Amino acid sequence: MTTNTPRRTRRSQSWEGVADWYAGWAGPKGSRYHRTLAVPLLLDLLQPGAGEALIDLGCGPGVLAPPVAATGMAYTGLDLSPSLISIARRHNGRAGRFVVGDATRAAAVPGLRQGTFDAASFLLSIQDIDPLTEALASAARLVHGSGRVVIVMLHPCFRVPRQSGWGWDEGRKLRYRRVDSYLSDLEVPMQPHHSGKGVTRSYHRPLGAYIAALSSHGFAVTALREVRDIEKSGAPPAERRAAGEIPMLLGLRADRLRSG
Ligand SMILES: C[S@@+](CC[C@H](N)C(=O)[O-])C[C@H]1O[C@@H](n2cnc3c(N)ncnc32)[C@H](O)[C@@H]1O
Repeated sequence: MTTNTPRRTRRSQSWEGVADWYAGWAGPKGSRYHRTLAVPLLLDLLQPGAGEALIDLGCGPGVLAPPVAATGMAYTGLDLSPSLISIARRHNGRAGRFVVGDATRAAAVPGLRQGTFDAASFLLSIQDIDPLTEALASAARLVHGSGRVVIVMLHPCFRVPRQSGWGWDEGRKLRYRRVDSYLSDLEVPMQPHHSGKGVTRSYHRPLGAYIAALSSHGFAVTALREVRDIEKSGAPPAERRAAGEIPMLLGLRADRLRSG
């Protein structure tokens, strides 16, 4: 497999500058997208077990904690942003433990012991974390020998920041998805809200890069789900058709085959 990987000088940053905006958008119980699509997808792939323990990497305001805790699985969230962790403790502190730290250097985070988790999750966070291989190395270190990793992300084949979008084919009366760039890794500065300070970064990688990075840490993909956007009542038929055909989210579950 060939991918165009540019220089590796970049590294993800915390969402500290946009913490209030993001937590406000998500709300204490998660956004409509979290509640309707992303969290159910993650739980379906995770198959939480009572008495098990989950480490959620890039947890933000911790919207995953209550639904995981409700299953009897113990929840720990890790995020680089101190403000998001303090919001997570305020909103969801009763459902889990929250720790400030870098998901690409989990070995250096006090209070996180290697091999003590049954599963690691990335809920809409892996495309904001770089380098990918170091994030997955952290996950591999934190979960025990038969642990699992669950990833929910924007579908990298169809949602490439600034390099994909909807188009209209007048001749065929068809709404289509255009993808201008896919195989090249991209680092894209994002400005989620004008009131936010600082620029967050999104990292596009082709699907194969995720499979290869999981595999290099001893994990094989055992489940994959593709999920469409929320159905919008009253939308024109062409829009509904396109939304039903082109998935919005991709969910992956990978199980450990051997120690990486
Ligand atoms: C889009 S938010 C998702 C937050 C949360 N999982 C959710 O679904 O609401 C991405 C999160 O990744 C965090 N992040 C980015 N790089 C990180 C890193 N190296 N270590 C830990 N967290 C990181 C950001 O601070 C931010 O909270």
